[in-house]
Amino acid sequence: MIIAIDGTTSSGKGTLAKRLAAHYGLPHLDTGLLYRAVAKSALNKGIDFKDERECALLAAHIDLAEFDERELRTAGVGTAASVVATLGAVRRALFELQRKFAQQKGGAVLDGRDIGTVIAPDADVKLWVDASVEERARRRFKELSAMGEDVTEHGVLMQLKDRDARDSQRKDAPMKPADDAVWIDTTRMTPDECLAKAIEVVEARKAAPKEKKAPVKKPKA
Ligand code: C5P
Repeated sequence: MIIAIDGTTSSGKGTLAKRLAAHYGLPHLDTGLLYRAVAKSALNKGIDFKDERECALLAAHIDLAEFDERELRTAGVGTAASVVATLGAVRRALFELQRKFAQQKGGAVLDGRDIGTVIAPDADVKLWVDASVEERARRRFKELSAMGEDVTEHGVLMQLKDRDARDSQRKDAPMKPADDAVWIDTTRMTPDECLAKAIEVVEARKAAPKEKKAPVKKPKA
């Protein structure tokens, strides 16, 4: 079973994906980490984010095992990731890796922005996870403060609005819910309630499997 989870930054989709994967004993890929790793590599090597060819070369050879996850989770790397994620060549370079992960025997859980629309349009279950931008800013502010980052809640709110706009307005694979995604608004939900709702959706799908799966097209150059 392929479970595709898409949604906005700090909506709770990452936590949900991890917990859902553990619940069903499925491997999980946080695809945001791939874009974060490309951005971090470019920053380390002094490569300009406008240099699509060089950024795509980094993406083609990215290995998450070479990165310290804490360094990828910073606010600065998140913003940089959303900039490299606008580059079509970077997205194409990361496509096969994500697609292979989705197609592994037994299934997988992937979370990101374009999983249900581009990476796994054939997913058995698609979830779109969102929350009000104010609530997301509150959560993200708490997280970043706990990581020792010097941020204000207002600054985080502005960054999230910026990131939402860049992610949803880019030309290639913009962030959007798949037509057949089930929406979960986590604004007033606890992580446990969110997990319970997602399990309910998965169980309903298991009881009534999809008859026809959407075709998967590799993004064109
Ligand atoms: O989810 P996370 O905040 O780690 O993602 C960082 C950035 O990577 C996002 O803002 C988005 O621009 C990009 N991304 C993407 N497609 C994905 C996952 C992440 O464009 N599937």
